[in-house]
Amino acid sequence: MSDHIIVERRGAIQLVRLNRPDKKNAITRAMYDRMASALRAGDADDDVRVHVFLGAPGAFSSGNDMQDFLAVATGGDHGKDVFDFLVALASARKPIVSGVDGLAIGIGTTIHLHCDMTFATPGSLFKTPFTDLGLVPEAASSLIAPQIMGHQRAFALLAMGEGFSAEQALDAGLIWKIAEPEALEAEVIAAAEAFAAKPPEALQLAKKLVKGPREPVLDRIREEGELFLQRLKSDEAREAFMAFMARKK
Ligand code: COA
Repeated sequence: MSDHIIVERRGAIQLVRLNRPDKKNAITRAMYDRMASALRAGDADDDVRVHVFLGAPGAFSSGNDMQDFLAVATGGDHGKDVFDFLVALASARKPIVSGVDGLAIGIGTTIHLHCDMTFATPGSLFKTPFTDLGLVPEAASSLIAPQIMGHQRAFALLAMGEGFSAEQALDAGLIWKIAEPEALEAEVIAAAEAFAAKPPEALQLAKKLVKGPREPVLDRIREEGELFLQRLKSDEAREAFMAFMARKK
């Protein structure tokens, strides 16, 4: 179970790799928990200067695990794992570089709104089918995405569930660069090494200034989270999760 998230140190880089390729890197509660711990530990460790997130070939992530969604929809405990991860992500003091190849669904897209430099391969797909699942946007995406890309594109992404190609994501300011699949990891690591070579205090201050105040972001994560939980228990959501499960058979 624990190797669904691999945490690795490479010099001053802490690399978090999503490693559940058989499920297209769908993220379970245990995986959120592991990523939150890694982010907090890396942020607190002076030997770490930059965080990196990578997925698997073909799938950065297919989003939150549908079985976990269904468990909450049918009366299970929702826990704090997702919330804790989002808080750690939004509060990280050190730069975050990410690399996407292929699917980036739900949180697989919104995570990059908190990253400082994202690379994606030409065939990547960014998509958040929140409303189709009876849900609402999360990860403060309803606040950050309109700031980055303007209302109409953010609405298309977050409310309409339109898929964005890598080109569209680049155009929308969701990612920094397009990289060929065979060069993706090397480009991500090179960018992380460039960050790691900077004076760390100055870099962290620069990130803090560029990102702006965290309170509105954390408030929005909370507000969305409350709605999200209500929606998880709605008939609309339950039907959508069951339809996904049935589709597999
Ligand atoms: N949660 C749990 N399992 C998931 C998953 C998810 N979010 N996404 C994919 N999987 C599983 C599938 O059930 C399948 O498992 P199986 O082999 O045991 O049947 C496996 O991963 C491969 O997925 P599959 O659907 O066969 O691949 P695909 O290439 O045809 O489609 C997706 C990929 C991502 C488009 C499709 O799986 C999908 O729509 N997933 C749900 C995405 C989603 O809505 N996420 C939540 C966003 S808020």
